[in-house]
Amino acid sequence: MSFMSNLPQKDFEKDLESVKDLKQLEELRIKYLGRNGVINNLLKGLGKLSQEQRKEQGKAINVFKNKIETELNKKRSMVSKKTVINFDTSLPGTKPAVGDLHPTTQVIRKINEFFRYLGYSVYEGPEIETNEFNFEKLNLPLDHPARELADTLYIKEPEYLLRTHTSSVEARAMISEKLPIRSVVPGITYRNETANTTNNAMFYQYEGLYVDKNISIGNLKGVLEEFVRFLYGSDVKTRFRCKYYPQVEPGVGMDILCTFCKGKTCKVCKYRGWVEVLGAGMVHPHILKSCGIDPTIWSGFAFGIGLDRLVMMTYHIKDIRALYSGALMLTPNI
Ligand code: DAH
Repeated sequence: MSFMSNLPQKDFEKDLESVKDLKQLEELRIKYLGRNGVINNLLKGLGKLSQEQRKEQGKAINVFKNKIETELNKKRSMVSKKTVINFDTSLPGTKPAVGDLHPTTQVIRKINEFFRYLGYSVYEGPEIETNEFNFEKLNLPLDHPARELADTLYIKEPEYLLRTHTSSVEARAMISEKLPIRSVVPGITYRNETANTTNNAMFYQYEGLYVDKNISIGNLKGVLEEFVRFLYGSDVKTRFRCKYYPQVEPGVGMDILCTFCKGKTCKVCKYRGWVEVLGAGMVHPHILKSCGIDPTIWSGFAFGIGLDRLVMMTYHIKDIRALYSGALMLTPNI
């Protein structure tokens, strides 16, 4: 008869079946293969047997030991696999971050919607401009600070430059379009600026121009006030201040009461309570004339919005550079 039948094979199989994790598996290994384990105890018992029996039983114990090792290894790979998939597969997964339109694009589209409703058309113009359209046609005299190298990035001085404002497209529209003109121009502009939290060498403006008969500053005020109400709600407060812009006469700056602190002063409004969002005015008669429009018949207003500031206020972005870097902003950082 084989001595294998004396060996606790059944016990091992039962023990193995009950193993659920790696910890229990290790306990089982120690129980059978450890220093004081089943196998070593069986081997110790060999001394009591006759030589013949010892040989046979020794062989059987070795076969059993090998079997234990193989079975433990098999079980190990099963248990570790099970550990990996040990989660509720019916749970909804984590959604990957998907892209969206840039905040500036979203605000441009929203503003376009407002002006289209009022009958304006959206225009585009070249970012590499000529001295003529960026400066001369807009009544910017030669000694105006904006004409100095410090502000303007020239491609070829003085004829070609990166446009310093979207007003250049106003001049283009007045020359090429039939009157009356209602145009808006969202676009990138450039100035020789050192970047900081509120200024960048590349930034957006949103320009508007309305030329028709009998246009007054009342029309300008009405449109711009309605515009900020559309953007920020009906309780937004505005104020107009006199400002000098060579392209308009009179010129004004429009401020809105800080939408964050409601005028109590905070970081966003630089502790002023008000935020300047645009420059505007009545188109200077010289400009109308230089674009072939008779200022005795026609008049108009124009405005240039600092778009980045509006975007930053809308989305609580405190550093303008965030709008021009590739870094994702997953949470508002104000
Ligand atoms: N072009 C001006 C600037 O870049 C902004 C501006 C002021 C635009 C008055 C206008 C305007 O159309 O009427 O600072």
